[in-house]
Amino acid sequence: MVIVDVLTLFPKMIEAFVQESILGRAQVEGKLHVRVHNFRDFSLDKHHKVDDTPYGGGAGMVLQVEPIVRALRSIEGHQHAHKILLTPSGTPYHQGHAKRLTQYPHLILICGHYEGFDERIVHYIDEEISIGDYVLTGGEAAALVVMESVVRLHTGVLNNAESTEEESFEDDLLEYPHYTKPMVFEGHEVPEVLRTGHHENIRLWRLDQQLKRTRERRPDLLVKREKKQR
Ligand code: ADE
Repeated sequence: MVIVDVLTLFPKMIEAFVQESILGRAQVEGKLHVRVHNFRDFSLDKHHKVDDTPYGGGAGMVLQVEPIVRALRSIEGHQHAHKILLTPSGTPYHQGHAKRLTQYPHLILICGHYEGFDERIVHYIDEEISIGDYVLTGGEAAALVVMESVVRLHTGVLNNAESTEEESFEDDLLEYPHYTKPMVFEGHEVPEVLRTGHHENIRLWRLDQQLKRTRERRPDLLVKREKKQR
């Protein structure tokens, strides 16, 4: 059983995604427990305000540390959970991080908004993650990316455990192209080799496609792969 708590100002965004995705099924089957908390409920302000103007001046509003810490402390088992802040200033996320995060049975994901968080939140969390070099309006989409990529790696959450072993980023290569019926669609044919039933030739063709694609689209991955092989 994996437990994921999400702290957000928009609980419905998280709830809807979980319900409609494969994560919903994992939850029904008792393999996953997602709990969503609105940190506005933990504001001490009479208008439930959770942001304020920045010390030192400047544009925009900053999320206050107090409601977030109060929300964190309300979570059962929070002392032992691994706490992640989603922010564009965090460490860039990749499949290696998803694998590493499977070691934690309990994750807490904190979604930001506005200009960012009061920096003192760092004393209450374990790491900061960015899902890429672009700025979203809030951390919700990022929290969903992290949650989905981690939870699907937990054995038993996906039906076929082996399907995660042969996918993109294993061995720092992109996946080879897949084909299914029909054999010809509007003149576009399935590559001949895949129809021969010659397993060794198919394996070599797929590896060649992986290398070609990776060279064209993600040369950075090939550099990483070569360093590891040395
Ligand atoms: N919040 C806003 N943009 C983000 C990003 N790129 N990654 C994580 N959290 C974010």
